[in-house]
Amino acid sequence: MSMITKCLFPAAGYGTRFLPATKSMPKEMLPVVDKPLIQYGVEEAMEAGMYNVGIVTGRGKRALADHFDVSYELEHQISGTSKEGLLTDIRRIINDCTFSYTRQSEMKGLGHAILTGETLIGREPFGVILADDLCVGEDKGVLSQMAEIYAKYRCCIVAIEEVPREEVHKYGVIAGSELEDGVYVVSNMVEKPDPDDAPSNLAIIGRYILTPDIFDVIRETPPGRNGEVQITDALQTQATRNMVLAYRFKGQRFDCGSVEGFVGATNHFFERWREAQSA
Ligand code: G1P
Repeated sequence: MSMITKCLFPAAGYGTRFLPATKSMPKEMLPVVDKPLIQYGVEEAMEAGMYNVGIVTGRGKRALADHFDVSYELEHQISGTSKEGLLTDIRRIINDCTFSYTRQSEMKGLGHAILTGETLIGREPFGVILADDLCVGEDKGVLSQMAEIYAKYRCCIVAIEEVPREEVHKYGVIAGSELEDGVYVVSNMVEKPDPDDAPSNLAIIGRYILTPDIFDVIRETPPGRNGEVQITDALQTQATRNMVLAYRFKGQRFDCGSVEGFVGATNHFFERWREAQSA
């Protein structure tokens, strides 16, 4: 039984890197083979025992809520046909999870989006998934791996991976000392640094476990990089007051906010899809 039952999905962003595909469709609904990105994320949360899903949405994102709800017409239409099997996974998700939504009416950054989700989370530790980072864990999902570390240390945790120096400007970047294999105590973290100022090439990817005191820290965090309230800045403050850990996850991550990452994920899951067809 997981100690963490809630997972927050900030999903209000416009997805401008994927225009025109995302002009009238949420980027989280882009399909990788036959499943929308957000469903991969929700499945990862469920695997980690987080069955209470909170989604921070925005204008033009109603398709997300419709996806995680029953479609009676569709059910009626395909009932008793060979296509019914295609709905097995999503039916199980709708059955086993609860979904709560709140809207972020202004895009003021990831920190602000997470703070907007406070009303869905309350005073409990929670997971955060950025659905456009699609992760494939080695033995278990990335959030499951992080939940195990949380059970041991009970503090905020960010997932990290090594990236080439010339790409650090796209990420939050950490510096820290290794506590155990792949687990670092964060001493510094910077949002989207210039390569010359980057404290390392360990980049934060879109998986977090946060303790609820982070909400108060975000409230006092001024806008940072790009004039937005950054979760990285709030976590940097948290690291000076409490321990924050960075975890080098075991597995693979696809940046599905970029065309290259999206195509990489599609190829990966197409292979799996093909294996399943011939099994
Ligand atoms: C956000 C975070 C950044 C993190 C990244 C991971 O940036 O602000 O720290 O490294 O997600 O995907 P974004 O990609 O939303 O600009």
